[in-house]
Order: sequence, then C-alpha cells, then structure tokens
Amino acid sequence: MRLRKLYVAILHFTLLHLVSAEIFSAITAGIAAAATGLYYSGRCYVGECCHQNHMPADFDRMFTKFDLVLDVCIFVVELKKNLESKMFGQHIAIKTIVNALKHHWSSDHIQKPLTISLHGSPGTGKNYITAFVKKSLYSKGVDSKFVHHWVGRIHFRLEEEVTKYQNNLYSWIKGNVTMCGRQLFIFDEVDKMPAKILDIIKPMIDYNERVEGVDYRQSIFIFISNTGSAAIVDTYLDFWKNGNRREGIKLKDFEKIITQGAFNEAGGFYRSDTIKSNLIDHYIPFLPMELEHVRMCIVQEFNIRNVTPSEHQIQNVLEYIEWGPNPENVFSKTGCKRLSQKVAVISAAGDEY
Ligand SMILES: *[C@@H]1O[C@H](CO)[C@@H](O)[C@H](O)[C@H]1NC(C)=O
Repeated sequence: MRLRKLYVAILHFTLLHLVSAEIFSAITAGIAAAATGLYYSGRCYVGECCHQNHMPADFDRMFTKFDLVLDVCIFVVELKKNLESKMFGQHIAIKTIVNALKHHWSSDHIQKPLTISLHGSPGTGKNYITAFVKKSLYSKGVDSKFVHHWVGRIHFRLEEEVTKYQNNLYSWIKGNVTMCGRQLFIFDEVDKMPAKILDIIKPMIDYNERVEGVDYRQSIFIFISNTGSAAIVDTYLDFWKNGNRREGIKLKDFEKIITQGAFNEAGGFYRSDTIKSNLIDHYIPFLPMELEHVRMCIVQEFNIRNVTPSEHQIQNVLEYIEWGPNPENVFSKTGCKRLSQKVAVISAAGDEY
C-alpha cells in the first residue's frame, strides 16, 4: 500500500514537473514572441515593415545584388506572367510598366521617383493593371499601408478646396515617405480633379535628392485619366484601317499625342507645371478593345465563376456592348467594364437564358 502511494506520488511529481516544464517553455516562447513582436512593431509599425518580408520587389533586389539570380526580378517575372494571361489587348501598357518597375526598384542610380501616367477610354484596363502592380510590389497588396489610392471625384471634388487638398496631399506624402521611401501613390480620375492640385507634388517628383530633408526618389506615382483617349482611338483606328496588326503599334506612335492631350484637356494636369517640366516618365496609352478582347474578358468572367460559357451565353453578354466610332464600329465603347454584373446574371440563369 505504502509503495503504491509512493509510486503515485512520484508519478504526480514527474507529471507536474513535465507539465510545468512545458508551461515554462511556452512562457519563454511567448515572451520571445512578444519581444520580437515589440521589436517589429517598434520598427515596422502595425504589422507591415518597410523591409523585404513585405516587399517582394525589395527581396528580389537582394538576390540580384548577390548575383544569385542574374537580371531576374522574380516579382517582375510574376507580374508579367499574370498580366499576359489575364489582361487582353494591351501589349504596350504591359511592356512599359513591367520594364519601368523592374528598372526603378532594381537600379542603384535612380534620380527621381517613378512617374507613370495611364491614358485611355473606360474599361481598357487602367485600374485593372494598377491592381496587379499593387499586388506585385507589396505582399499585402491593396491592403498595404504603403499603397495610397486617391480618386478625383471622391477625394478632390471641390474647386474651392484646392488649397486644403494641396496641403493635405503634401503632408500625407511627406509623412509617409519619411517613414518608408517605397510608397505607391495613385491618382485616379486625374481629369476629374480641379486643375492645379497636382502642382503641389512637383518638387517631390522632380530631380531632387531631398526636399525639406526627405528623399522621395524610391517612391512610385501613377496617374490615371481618360484624357487623350479620343486621340488614342483616332491614332489606333488609322493604324487599324491601314491593315496593321494591333501588336505592331508601338509606344512612340502615341507618346506625343498623349502629352498634348493631357496638357490641353481640362482636369488635374491642365496647364500644369508637372507637364510643362516633363516630370512624367511614361505616358501609357490603353488601346480601345475590339471584339476578340471583349470576348476574352467575357470568358474570363465566366471562368472566375467556374462556368465554361456556351457560345450562346457569350453572345448574350455581347448584346449589351455598344460599338463605336461610326462607321467602323469596331471598338467597345465601354471596353470590358461592367461585364462582371452581366455575366453574373447570365451564368446564374444557366441554360435558360
Ligand atoms: C499617409 O497617407 C495616408 C493617406 O493614404 C494619410 O491618411 C496618413 O495621415 C499619412 N501618414 C502620415 C504619417 O502622414
């Protein structure tokens, strides 16, 4: 009897000891994790760091530095692959943007922030491509705190508030870049913003090593607008009428008209210093969408819903599309915009539609 009691006691003791060792190591691990967490939140501020773990682009730059991967930025390869399979009919945009990003964050000699201006009619993919850029630059993608997306008609609506908007913009951009140089600033609907707002950012996107002690050169600015789209359509239509293949048209066929268009049409770049002083690195035309591209968008929308569409279903969606300009009527007036709602209805209805 005694012996058994002793035995139980020993067992208890051992168990207790084991358990407490477990608890002890758990506590230690906890403290370590908390300490690491504190260290990171101190350094990184709310869970996202200005450093390679959260910036795939930066990580790949490290690789290239050590010559492990020659001239290959994985994030750029990934982005290119994604765009080529998911974006239709915009070979100029894909090529220019991919190359510009690749150069900007892998070069040791950048002299100014990267500034890209996207032009084209609605539904040609300007916002679509921007979403891919966000995802490829930051592991948190659209939710990254390094991504800033302002929309003309929402954030800068009132003509009489221009000074306030300018002051806000200046302090936000400055504040964010001070914390981390690798920021992405997107100005959407530039043509719907009161003119002059963007003049405030001119020193920031200029060839300056520092502006009031802040170095802006790592950051990226993307401007999106419909300005110049009529000229883009005209230029491309001429090209098309001469029997050329779409893929044959080059950026240099457009650059001049876009600059003039953005300069002359009303909106955020109207008679702007930014344009006058050539601070935009790339003007990128988005070509009008033809039947074959709209079809591909439609099929993709069905596929997203795990539906392989019948020809009948595709035709049903196509019926909603208006074509222009007269008399050729070969470009979708709304590009691939709002297809998703149409496809949703038709794919839900199945064969009866
Ligand atoms: C960073 O930018 C956001 C807008 O995207 C702004 O609300 C915020 O105040 C800025 N942060 C600093 C420190 O200026």
